[in-house]
Amino acid sequence: MTPQSTIISHVGQIPSRNFLDDLPRMPHPNSVLMCSPEYFDVIDVKNPFMENQSGKIDRAHAQKQWDALRRSLAEIGLNVELIPPVSGCEDMVFTANQTFVGLDDNQHKICVLGRMKFASRQREVPHFAAWFKRQGYEIHALNGGYLFEGGGDALWHPGRRLIWGGYGQRTAPEVYSEISGLFAAPVVLLPLQTERFYHLDTCFCPVDETTALVHFPALAESGQELIRRVFTNLIEVDEHEATDLFACNAAAFHGRNVVLQRGSSKTTQRLSELGFQVRQVETGEFMKSGGSVFCMTTAFV
Ligand code: ARG
Repeated sequence: MTPQSTIISHVGQIPSRNFLDDLPRMPHPNSVLMCSPEYFDVIDVKNPFMENQSGKIDRAHAQKQWDALRRSLAEIGLNVELIPPVSGCEDMVFTANQTFVGLDDNQHKICVLGRMKFASRQREVPHFAAWFKRQGYEIHALNGGYLFEGGGDALWHPGRRLIWGGYGQRTAPEVYSEISGLFAAPVVLLPLQTERFYHLDTCFCPVDETTALVHFPALAESGQELIRRVFTNLIEVDEHEATDLFACNAAAFHGRNVVLQRGSSKTTQRLSELGFQVRQVETGEFMKSGGSVFCMTTAFV
């Protein structure tokens, strides 16, 4: 028996004004999984940010930036867990991508494995599967052989049983009916339409139930409309802050704390005005690989 799945791909399918209120509440994650950048490197071009960056990583500097990020997350009160880095897995520091984790409607811990586009990243997945299995997660490999890059493209709506499902370069839309069924959560589909914003977490960040950061040009019209329908406080991030400073790759916790790359003054100001506690960190070495704060975390309950 296939569990029931709900896919929302245009605004007409969003039932009522009380759409969010009608969705079951979900606990805010209090743990994050990180991976030390011991073997972090740029040796090929998996996304446009990586062009001309081969051999340009200062690993000692990367380690310092990562240590500071880890400290910031701990200071917020998060329990930071570490997965040991593996030699030859140069992107393993980006722990958002290998899996998508959460609770099903019986509060069982479910871990869906990514099916990564690039061979070097496929090697990371078994290590994460073993790690989450040890934490008591039920491990699921998706049917059908479609690409899926985990929490880089699939994002939980803060505090509600709802998933935002990005797709385009790294994830196929077909995966989301199975994912919706596994978590008993509707999935709102967001088609990515540019080369640069290759994962949903590079252009969209739900911060709390009603607030999100978004760089609209990265998303197709249908997705823009869906986001406008669901969030009442939208912080539209401009080209500079989205591209040069990865402002949308912020990580938000407890519906209150937001951690992002330093320097996005407009985004930071809007967040502060809305009452969020903002922490700015340096992720310059990781942006050379096309990732910032959110990419280096996987939040779990
Ligand atoms: N170099 C990595 C890649 O292209 C960066 C991944 C960034 N992660 C993210 N969740 N956006 O796969």
